[in-house]
Amino acid sequence: MNFQLTEEHLAVQEAARDFARTELLPGVIERDEKQEFPTAQIKKMGELGFMGMMVSPEYGGGGMDTKAYVLAMEEISKVDASASVCMSVNNSLVCWGIEQYGSEEQKKKYLPRLASGETIGAFCLSEPEAGSDATMQRTSALDRGDHYLVNGNKNWITNGNSASVYIVMAQSEAEKKHKGINAFIIEKEWKGFVVGKKENKMGIRASDTHSLMFNDIRVPRENRIGENGFGFKFAMSVLNGGRIGIAAQALGIASGAYELSVQYAKERKTFGQEIGKHQAIQFKLAEMATKIEAARLLCLQAADLKDQNQSYAQASAMAKLYASQVAMEVTIEAVQIHGGYGYVKEYHVERMMRDAKITQIYEGTSEIQKMVIAREILN
Ligand code: CAA
Repeated sequence: MNFQLTEEHLAVQEAARDFARTELLPGVIERDEKQEFPTAQIKKMGELGFMGMMVSPEYGGGGMDTKAYVLAMEEISKVDASASVCMSVNNSLVCWGIEQYGSEEQKKKYLPRLASGETIGAFCLSEPEAGSDATMQRTSALDRGDHYLVNGNKNWITNGNSASVYIVMAQSEAEKKHKGINAFIIEKEWKGFVVGKKENKMGIRASDTHSLMFNDIRVPRENRIGENGFGFKFAMSVLNGGRIGIAAQALGIASGAYELSVQYAKERKTFGQEIGKHQAIQFKLAEMATKIEAARLLCLQAADLKDQNQSYAQASAMAKLYASQVAMEVTIEAVQIHGGYGYVKEYHVERMMRDAKITQIYEGTSEIQKMVIAREILN
């Protein structure tokens, strides 16, 4: 395993840290409160190359490796997990999915726009009755020769309204079960595309999560990704990489809360001294730091395996399982260290605690990660 960071990695990390502090931190509390999508900030992230980090330069991307992506995701997530989920879905589910499995025409048509942040992408797998059990796709895509006719509903779609390009999984031949599922690239302007209800969420409130409705959308045949029936495998493969992004998001939420806690422990005084001088706080900080370091190593290990073209489904599920657990534990402790101040919005850690919870749910719950890990162990 190679955990050596190159000069390029360190430069990306620093650029992401600077951006997060100068552009995302101001207004992060208000955006959370008002559920306001960070439109201007995401546009700048695109200009700086954070929206298509791993896309090849020939398609307008940064051509960076997964480790650079993990480092940037951690820094952005330390400050604003709503911005980072948008970044993660765009990079690892949409751009990577198209570059890895799309046709040359699809890559040329969609990647430059997605990588530059001119367009945002969304990944549409979940449905009212197909969350963890993703094989139960009810959205249908009937083969009509030169096009597919797509009908159905999707739920909990990150970037649901802010996106313009959607990767949609739909069932074309129900009798074949998951082998009848196809993946398509669908554009928002196409007739029959309806953006539904916006979810009023506990955390990552500035990210826009919507239901979507598809009413007789005519999707050109050339917008199917891969061979007929490849859609489920496509989704599973893309999610293996997506989970590295969410693991890094969880890591960032934890390390953001930890850094605030260290700073607070040096400033806040009780019983005549800084609270960091009390052993009760020291033990908490030591445990938080240890867990964060372990989560970081799991994230980098999964990223390194992916970069070395080795199997990484198990490593990415482990990273997501553990980092999301750490995000929850560390943010709860961060609120505890901050005491009453931790319970109010100005000190950020209450938002981080709310944001942390989703990392144990999306791109597969913790229980799904355990299924993926066990599946890899037993196979
Ligand atoms: N990697 C590659 N292939 C996989 C895979 C993986 N991790 N898991 C399953 N597959 C393949 C299998 O090899 C199998 O292929 P064959 O038919 O060729 O043998 C096929 O998929 C079916 O496998 P299973 O029978 O094991 O499938 P299953 O139905 O028992 O369960 C599951 C699979 C892992 C539970 C899967 O349904 C799953 O991952 N569910 C969670 C879905 C999920 O993460 N949803 C998140 C939505 S996206 C999101 O949240 C984005 C966002 O907005 C932030």
